[in-house]
Amino acid sequence: MSLAPLARIPKAELHLHIEGTLEPELAFELAARNGITLPYADTEELRKAYLFADLQSFLDLYYSLMAVLVTEDDFEALADAYLARAAEQGVRHAEIFFDPQAHAARGVEMGTVVEGLHRALARSEARHGISTKLIMCFLRDRSAESAMETLEAAKPYLDRIVGIGLDSAEVGNPASKFREVYEAAGALGLRKVAHAGEEGDPSYVWEALDILGVERVDHGLRSLEDPELVTRLVRDRIPLTLCPLSNVRLRTIDMLEDHPLVKMMDAGLLCTVNSDDPSYFGGYVGDTFHAVHEALGIDHERVRELARNSFVASFLDGSAEDEALRARYIAEVEAYELDDISG
Ligand code: ADE
Ligand code: ZN
Repeated sequence: MSLAPLARIPKAELHLHIEGTLEPELAFELAARNGITLPYADTEELRKAYLFADLQSFLDLYYSLMAVLVTEDDFEALADAYLARAAEQGVRHAEIFFDPQAHAARGVEMGTVVEGLHRALARSEARHGISTKLIMCFLRDRSAESAMETLEAAKPYLDRIVGIGLDSAEVGNPASKFREVYEAAGALGLRKVAHAGEEGDPSYVWEALDILGVERVDHGLRSLEDPELVTRLVRDRIPLTLCPLSNVRLRTIDMLEDHPLVKMMDAGLLCTVNSDDPSYFGGYVGDTFHAVHEALGIDHERVRELARNSFVASFLDGSAEDEALRARYIAEVEAYELDDISG
């Protein structure tokens, strides 16, 4: 089924784990190629396992399925498949997370991951019409030492990586653990984001801001619980990369209709809408735009605002070339015809 025009408005995707785009069909194809036996009979049985109770139950499956990603070719195929899907969804720019520690734990080195992804990213503008940047995430349920070793391993590839992030199991793994590695990354000129306030309370967001010095907060779903935090996020124009379908699938909220996106926009927060792990959560980013339009009654001007915000919040500000690209994308958003579209 082709996607509604509203869903295809030009947009940037800023919260996207490349490993979370692994579709069951590709997982089985890569498993066969690498001589790996998956503990599922077929794609249908695998899909049935996508009923998550919480973040941890998702992460368990997400990490185990990564076993099929072994060679540069595998990472290239993964990124290429995502970019093709993203192009159909109106994505014009993507800032893509990857989890090197999850691969290193299986003996897959940093160079294999980065070079494989880079092969697909390097031809993305020509092939898919999507500009890209790569963000390396540390796993917050691993040690600070392991994060520092990962930063060290990334040093030969820093021309391919724009920034660092922090993901995996949040509660009990506060940002403060990673102060030093964020300082070291900042000194290397890397941009900083972190997951905060996904399952955790607003204190996790405060730590990401005050201790890690993040420029963007991934999730920040519960920020409205803390008026002082809202004041701070609004004052400093800190973008939030919200992922409404992820929040429903991981049961952080009961139903999409309960999502605080509209209230957050009303409060003046710089909100963006993203897909997180689209293969697992039932939709890519255009599908997510469509879903929030339907469930939350987000009108056309707000849809345009979300699309505009995605470019404003992007890291397309590091050079005159990037600034020009961003201006071009925002002009595309402003010119996009929504008024005679029913949805
Ligand atoms: N890694 C991949 N997806 C994630 C999410 N939604 N939260 C934390 N870590 C993740
Ligand atoms: Zn995420």
